[in-house]
Amino acid sequence: MMRDDSAIAWVEGEIVPAREARIPLLDHGFLFGDGVFEGIRVTSAGIFRLEDHMKRLETAGRAVGIEPRDGYARVREIACETTRAWGPREGYLRLIVSRGVGALGIDPDSCPEAAIVCVAAGTVELSAEKEARGLDMITSSLRRPAGDVLDPRVKSLNYLNNVLAKREANLRGADDALVLNALGLVAEASATNVFAIQANRLDTPAVTDGALEGMTRRTVLEIGAELGFEVGERSLGRFDLYAADAVFLTGTRAGLVPVGSLDGSPISQSARPRVREIQSIFETRQVELSVSAG
Ligand SMILES: Cc1ncc(COP(=O)(O)O)c(C=O)c1O
Repeated sequence: MMRDDSAIAWVEGEIVPAREARIPLLDHGFLFGDGVFEGIRVTSAGIFRLEDHMKRLETAGRAVGIEPRDGYARVREIACETTRAWGPREGYLRLIVSRGVGALGIDPDSCPEAAIVCVAAGTVELSAEKEARGLDMITSSLRRPAGDVLDPRVKSLNYLNNVLAKREANLRGADDALVLNALGLVAEASATNVFAIQANRLDTPAVTDGALEGMTRRTVLEIGAELGFEVGERSLGRFDLYAADAVFLTGTRAGLVPVGSLDGSPISQSARPRVREIQSIFETRQVELSVSAG
């Protein structure tokens, strides 16, 4: 992806161009991926599902024992300050709370204070050709770690599993990778959730199968129920994706993205009109569910 020169960052109380922002070398977020984060959509109306994002961030922080000095209310304010500086245009916020600066060893107790950083950047658009054909995906040879290894429900800064799945897709000439859990069930894609439409069912893997509880996922489940789909969070195998009438991915950066093939075999596009219907309601819903940054 191209460098985004319009990106800005809130670092140590100041808003600076993101390319000039600096974080300390001994920050454990940098050294060990010891931290939590959110990727949040900014719309013309403000911040999408702000309270839900703050809850997910705080829950993840609590699960790994990271508590900012002035609490998560201060983190929320920083997200709002950064959004105000970004202005009323479409954007993407990366809100990070790391363990902070400490010793060179991993001991989290050597970090007296959590550090907060927030970046605002432009959004990315899928090319018209990709949108039309859908993504070509491979099944990654890596498995998503189970909850007793590294709980995928914690949106931590430790994304090596996701990065390596994406790298595998790149190396194999694909757009993205499907990641299975240790049981061989679909968890999600490298950094997005997976949905399958079959007849009147709209299904996505349960969080216990290794999916992050995505905000886009949550909104799509709500829209699906309103549209009369039988929606479900249930275990899916690769079979279910091949049997589906349409498969798509969801995420804050990408929105809803159709899948065209998996491991070289085409995925049905017969329910694409229904995906477009969900997509179009989702775009309106993003604005409706945005909270003013003040
Ligand atoms: C691992 C993973 N799964 C799914 C998602 C999609 O979640 P959301 O819709 O909240 O962006 C993300 C987003 O970054 C992610 O990192």
